[in-house]
Amino acid sequence: MTPFTNEPILELRRAPVRARLSEALAAHDARPPVKAPVWIGGERREAADFVSTDPGAPDRVVAEAAAATPEEVEAALALASERGARTWGATPAERRAEILLGAAAWLRERRLEIAALEVREAAKPWPEADGDVCEAIDFLEYYARGALDIAQGAPLLQVPGERNELRWSPRGVVAVISPWNFPVAIPLGMTAAGLATGNAVLLKPAEQTPGCAAVLVQALREAGVPPEALALLPGEGDVGAALVKDPRVHTIAFTGSNKVGLEIVRTAAEVPDGQRHLKRVVAEMGGKNAVIVDSDADLDEVVPALVASAFVFAGQKCSAAARVLCHEAVHDALVERLGGAVEVLQVGQAEQLDTDVPPVIEREAQERVARYAEEAERAGRIAARARDVPDEGWFATPTLAAELPADSPVLNEEIFGPLLAVERVRDVPEACDRLDASPFALTAGLFARNPDTVDYVVDRVPAGNLYVNRSITGAMVARQPFGGNRLSGTGTKAGGPGYLLQFVEPRVVTENTMRHGLVV
Ligand SMILES: NC(=O)c1ccc[n+]([C@@H]2O[C@H](COP(=O)([O-])OP(=O)(O)OC[C@H]3O[C@@H](n4cnc5c(N)ncnc54)[C@H](O)[C@@H]3O)[C@@H](O)[C@H]2O)c1
Repeated sequence: MTPFTNEPILELRRAPVRARLSEALAAHDARPPVKAPVWIGGERREAADFVSTDPGAPDRVVAEAAAATPEEVEAALALASERGARTWGATPAERRAEILLGAAAWLRERRLEIAALEVREAAKPWPEADGDVCEAIDFLEYYARGALDIAQGAPLLQVPGERNELRWSPRGVVAVISPWNFPVAIPLGMTAAGLATGNAVLLKPAEQTPGCAAVLVQALREAGVPPEALALLPGEGDVGAALVKDPRVHTIAFTGSNKVGLEIVRTAAEVPDGQRHLKRVVAEMGGKNAVIVDSDADLDEVVPALVASAFVFAGQKCSAAARVLCHEAVHDALVERLGGAVEVLQVGQAEQLDTDVPPVIEREAQERVARYAEEAERAGRIAARARDVPDEGWFATPTLAAELPADSPVLNEEIFGPLLAVERVRDVPEACDRLDASPFALTAGLFARNPDTVDYVVDRVPAGNLYVNRSITGAMVARQPFGGNRLSGTGTKAGGPGYLLQFVEPRVVTENTMRHGLVV
């Protein structure tokens, strides 16, 4: 197999490429809503039990989804545990890898069509939607190669008269529970990891983006994943909760909020009657990502990088910047310059290529951002707001806050929207103290020119992903394996070495090779 490389993103500066996007969106809009069925084995039940809508035009239905009933969840669990895990687990790693590569090719052929669906269903601006599809392809390509590595086992010390072998076996059934903000890449990444390692997978996608989930299951099924090894169970949180507590589930791969993640960790720790294993939870959760700006930082670089980190996709990336811890010597200058940049942000529909900030995912998110902005105004100061914000759609006003007290919820809780707060610090050690006081440790950033400062911050910051002198979003598979520490995650890294080991169980076989004759 050729070495892994990242899928190249589209060159949106080229007019013919942009024209193809418009055509893809027009074709998408001309089709009826996408169907997201409950899909178990060969059975597809289509329904409009709930729908997803365009956050920029909430009257537009994007997908019609069936909601998995308790009986369907039971049927999916029975099929996966009784047949899927066994047949797929017995499939050679080479064949599993081949199928994942087939799914990557399927997505590659339809990448504009899928990106158009993301533009509508999650209000992902084109570059973000394209990036999400590329990341999904990367996960398939990367984990396909990882499956082959895992099948080799690991070298152990051998001594005369003894043969030692370490091999990894699939754990069984994986429940994948995913968020809406990377509606193809994240569910596909977790699903591909479970499948690459020979597990059967039950996917419970986010209720906001069932259409994207249906597409990725189609990709995997058409590429050859057997029906009993992969089910799609759309629905609300209760469907996820039912999977988490079931004794037939071995591994739970979750990405989403802290609240839900911690509940999953607690529930999965129980060992119900009949369960003969410990469940493993792979949980990637929320953060409160901070960027430290030292006094010698080049503000010409800092301002665009912070704007991109905080406001692209309306601050709804788990890696998005929410706090800036700025050296007092440059604090006022930075607030002024950032404020100018925030005021002129182009807030608009995801499909428009000049949009900087699209709508947030739903009304509740819009209201949440507004509540935190009010709190920032009450306890501190609003340094800037974007000027023009459309009325229709779930638009949240991009906002820059400053002068907040250290215990403000605006500085300590995940808002997950376009609100950035700047804090004044005496020096970099104080910035690190503040950052270290947070229970979150997902991403962080530093702008500094002195290499000693860089070393100091690298040593002190607990974040899973630290970015130095650049924006703090846009992790790439194999280049920046991604995931948080502390309450932001179980410390595992999606798209990196070691990730697949969470989906397998190690077994060591030791054989005494000093045979004393052969009994026949
Ligand atoms: N660390 C990361 O890599 C990463 C990546 C993307 C998003 N996130 C986080 O995800 C959050 C945004 O996503 P969201 O709003 O979809 O999160 P969420 O926690 O509300 O939902 C995530 C999934 O959990 C399901 N769910 C809800 N209640 C459940 C329950 N009781 N039991 C089992 N499943 C349940 C939902 O239906 C959904 O499928 C943010 O906090 C963001 O930081 C983290």
